[in-house]
Amino acid sequence: MNHHVVSQPTFTVAIRRATVDDAAALAEFGARTFYETFAKDNTAEDMRLHLASAWAPALQRAEILDTDFDTLLASDTAGRLAGFAQLRAGHAPADIATVQPVELLRFYVDRPWQGQGVAGLLMQAVQDQARARGARELWLGVWERNERAQAFYRKHGFRKVGSQIFVVGTDPQTDHVMLCEL
Ligand SMILES: CC(C)(COP(=O)(O)OP(=O)(O)OC[C@H]1O[C@@H](n2cnc3c(N)ncnc32)[C@H](O)[C@@H]1OP(=O)(O)O)[C@@H](O)C(=O)NCCC(=O)NCCS
Repeated sequence: MNHHVVSQPTFTVAIRRATVDDAAALAEFGARTFYETFAKDNTAEDMRLHLASAWAPALQRAEILDTDFDTLLASDTAGRLAGFAQLRAGHAPADIATVQPVELLRFYVDRPWQGQGVAGLLMQAVQDQARARGARELWLGVWERNERAQAFYRKHGFRKVGSQIFVVGTDPQTDHVMLCEL
């Protein structure tokens, strides 16, 4: 995956596949970026419940080892995480006609790296990896209020095809389901 590299005068970020050695760093990074993105819109208790259910080194270790998952990391030359994405096979969007779908389960870029091209690089790697899995469609759920992410996904060929509920702690929230043909 080394051909996915973005260089600017001040930084270089490359995409690689996660290994189990990345599990602890990914758990910390995933929890922190989820918190930074959504804490302002959720109760402290719902955030606590969600973070505890989704982010722990043992959980990310299991996902990295799970052959239904592809976990891709964007890291800088010092090895620090700038972003990550996870594909998950075997989950089709409810009520949407698809031929061979793969889910983009998670897609996060750390704040200092947003608007810098890292997300586009990561999306290119995600779409290549989905094609390598034989997928014909890439789909995702994005919170209806997360307009920046929706704008980013539209730029990369996704369109809204439906909606689904995503529960944060105890709070059922409405996600747009977006899909792009590969
Ligand atoms: C979603 C994410 C990966 C996109 O990466 P990014 O580097 O921010 O994306 P870009 O800057 O290339 O594109 C975002 C677009 O939204 C626009 N935008 C910025 N803020 C916006 C807002 N509040 N409302 C609508 N559009 C907005 C930007 O102008 C840009 O469009 P442009 O390139 O035409 O100017 C990144 O912001 C992120 O990780 N956010 C936090 C985690 C998250 O929400 N993940 C998605 C979960 S589904």
